Amino acid sequence: MKKIIVTCALPYANGSLHLGHILEHIQADIWVRYQRMIDNQVWFICADDAHGTPIMLKAKNIQLPPETLIKKIHKEHKTDFKNFNIIHDNYHSTHSSENKKTLEKIYNILKKKKYIKKKRTSQFFDIKEKMFLPDRFVIGTCPKCKTKNQYSDNCEICGSTYSCKEIINPKSTISNSIPILKNSTHYFFNLPIFSKMLKNWITSGTLNKNVSNKILEWFKIGLKKWNISRDAPYFGFKIPKTNKYFYVWLDATIGYISTFKNLCKKNKNINFNEFWNKNTKTKLYHFIGKDIVYFHSLFWIAILEGCKLRKPNKIFIHGHLTINKIKMSKSKKTHIKAKTWLKNFNSDSLRYYLASKLSHKLEDIDLNLIDFKKKINNDIVNKLINLAYRNLKFIHKLYNNKLSKTLDNNNLYATFVKKSKHILKYFNNCNFSKITKKIMKLTKKANYYIDQQKPWKLVKTSKNKNKVHEICTTGINLFKILMTLLKPILPKLSNKIEKLLNTNLTFKNINKPLLNHKIKNPKKLFNRIKNNQINNLLKNNKI
Ligand code: 2FM
Ligand code: ZN
Repeated sequence: MKKIIVTCALPYANGSLHLGHILEHIQADIWVRYQRMIDNQVWFICADDAHGTPIMLKAKNIQLPPETLIKKIHKEHKTDFKNFNIIHDNYHSTHSSENKKTLEKIYNILKKKKYIKKKRTSQFFDIKEKMFLPDRFVIGTCPKCKTKNQYSDNCEICGSTYSCKEIINPKSTISNSIPILKNSTHYFFNLPIFSKMLKNWITSGTLNKNVSNKILEWFKIGLKKWNISRDAPYFGFKIPKTNKYFYVWLDATIGYISTFKNLCKKNKNINFNEFWNKNTKTKLYHFIGKDIVYFHSLFWIAILEGCKLRKPNKIFIHGHLTINKIKMSKSKKTHIKAKTWLKNFNSDSLRYYLASKLSHKLEDIDLNLIDFKKKINNDIVNKLINLAYRNLKFIHKLYNNKLSKTLDNNNLYATFVKKSKHILKYFNNCNFSKITKKIMKLTKKANYYIDQQKPWKLVKTSKNKNKVHEICTTGINLFKILMTLLKPILPKLSNKIEKLLNTNLTFKNINKPLLNHKIKNPKKLFNRIKNNQINNLLKNNKI
């Protein structure tokens, strides 16, 4: 049995969850459910990323103390995740006593080892607001391609990165005033000193090849020292014995450790050190989006090395979610909140659709709503649920909900068992699109078998009563295998099926057909997707 910690990137506590967040958590949740089904012990943890300038400004805007804002958002995030059947063992916050303590401890270790040093820098300062401005709050013209409205450190159009001194016509997006460059002393983490170790780690199989190749390009430019401090006003934790604050990205990654620490407080059977000691045999897996690879593959790894803690075994990286090929953006009204989705569709439908598109590739994942409707109605309703109903109907009407003592086709059942073992292998690598494709191929095969046997015809002659019983029992048992394979992807539907079939869907039982077994009355299992649901979802949206 493996002992595993699984994390997702910590969502910022300044707004509602959208489908982009849900994509990542669905991916991780499917993986976690699979690991548990093969009897591994998994602790699935996450937290709100509760610090930083955007949260401070948002709170100011709505005239709430930041503490009140992040509490409110925390509650909302937890509810949204639960409603998607994304079940974390602990969903904590980086604004916690554990995080403060862990952060200070790590900072002191790194400082003692001289990995952190003071340096004077200049940064944009908003005179009107009397505050230093993070890069994303300054826009201007790209010094390379001359495109307007680009962030002060990188250009979305030509992809170049530059220092804040280079941007043309800078403007503060908070006050619309022209910012000045002002000096301030900051604390820098010596990332370059870890270059050799990082190169080894990155190429040791913890990342897919395409990702590690990309990261190696960053080494060619050279790693830079990382500023881990911020000036007041800031919402975060104070750096001990200074007038500065810790940069949100430092305490965010440390949030993985402190969230686990908090879990250990709640569950005394978990041994914190067993999971975080440098030489641990336990596993740590992160799920993140492709935009935050730098933080996780460089800063985070160097910090763990610096204070002699364990490192992740693998980082699963996904592309971004687009909707009808449009990038999600709050300001452009092209994003869909998790809550809005659930007002119109059930959670399993999105879980299935996204699973059908997820692989280990970095490409963006498009939620095309016409394709979504087609896929759910074809795969789930027309193929999968239809397979169940057409057999359940007879078992209910003619055999008092009791399955036959033997199958009509043992060979077919054995083929499904064999194919299942093969399909399960794809879960480990998050190759869920392959899984859904292969399951649908089997579903088609099971329906074809029923088409060929024609129980609805046979039933007209009383001498065939036994044969029909065995055919439908075979159909239901094939359906049971399919639902067992789909259990990590479709928790809500598989739960209904477990009740209906009066059994637990487990991988161990895949080769054991339900025979001479009483099941429950058939009932509505899944609703067909209709156009008006899609229209409702997009109401007030610019997609
Ligand atoms: O990009 C984000 O949304 C960050 N809040 C992710 C933090 S992940 C980790 F480092 F904690
Ligand atoms: Zn440019």
